[in-house]
Amino acid sequence: MQTVKALQMLRTALAQLRAEGEAGGATIALVPTMGALHEGHLTLVRRAREEADHVVASIFVNPKQFGPNEDLDAYPRQLAADAAMLEAEGVALLWAPTVDEMYPAGFASNVSVAGVSEGLCGAARPGHFDGVATVVCKLFNQVQPDFALFGEKDFQQLAVIRAMARDLDLTRPHVDNIIGVPTVREADGLAMSSRNRYLSPDHRVAAAALPRTMQEAIAAIESGAEVAGALDSLRVDLLAAGFSGVDYAALADSRSLAPLDALGQTPARLLVAARIGGTRLIDNMAVNNAS
Ligand code: PAF
Repeated sequence: MQTVKALQMLRTALAQLRAEGEAGGATIALVPTMGALHEGHLTLVRRAREEADHVVASIFVNPKQFGPNEDLDAYPRQLAADAAMLEAEGVALLWAPTVDEMYPAGFASNVSVAGVSEGLCGAARPGHFDGVATVVCKLFNQVQPDFALFGEKDFQQLAVIRAMARDLDLTRPHVDNIIGVPTVREADGLAMSSRNRYLSPDHRVAAAALPRTMQEAIAAIESGAEVAGALDSLRVDLLAAGFSGVDYAALADSRSLAPLDALGQTPARLLVAARIGGTRLIDNMAVNNAS
C-alpha cells in the first residue's frame, strides 16, 4: 500500500491503479475517514473490496467540520497504526493530505446542502455539515472514485452526501454508487465510534443504555405506542442510566429526515444524540412500519 500526502502524487498513483484494469479501466472505491480506525471502518473497506478492483482510503481530520468548542485538537491521530490496519485489509492507496494541501492559502469555497442538513445534528452543530460536504466534495474530485462507502452510523451525514451528489450531478461517484454500510456494534450493542475511546470505564458500561433504550422505544412504536410518549420515555431512561443530556431523540423519514409524529407509509428511522461524561454519542436504527 502506498501512502501519499500531496495531490500531485495522488494523481500519479491513481493513474497507475486505473491502468491496471482491462483497457486501462480498473474501478476504484473510496473509503473516506478521519482515522482512529476501528472495526466499523474496516467493514467499509471489506465491502469496498467487493465493489471495486482497488480500494483507496483517505485519512483527514477535517477542521471545517469541527465547531469552536469541539474536539479537533483532542481528536485521536494515529496515522502509522491506521495505515498498518488498512494495508492488512488490502487497501491499495492511502490518501492522507495535510491541512495545507486540502485547504491551501486563499481557499474560500463552501458546499452547503440545505434541508436535510438542518435538523438533528445540524441544529446542534452549526456549520458541521457544510464542513463535511465541502471536504467530501473535494475528496470525490481528488480521487474520482466509482464508488464511495460511508457508515450508516452517521445517517444524517450519509443523507447530506447523497443530496450533494444528486443536486450537483456528480458522476464520480454517481449518487447511486454512494453505498451506506450498516452500523457495526460492540457486543453490548453500542455503535462503534472513534469517540467511544473518550469514555471512562463506568461511562462505557452505562453507554450501552443508548442502543438498549432505542430498541425499547422502537418496540413500543412498532406495537402502536404514541411516538411522542415513546421518545419521552427514551429521554427519561437515558438520563436515569447516567447520560447528562439528550440533544435529540426523533423519529424521522429515512430519506428526507423530516420529523414524523407517527409511522406512515415511508421508511422511518429513530435517531438519537446524547451526552455522557462530556462525550456526545449518536445512533440510529430503522423502525418498521407495522402495515
Ligand atoms: O465520517 C467521517 O469520518 C467524516 O465525517 C468524513 C466523511 C470522512 C468527512 O470528513
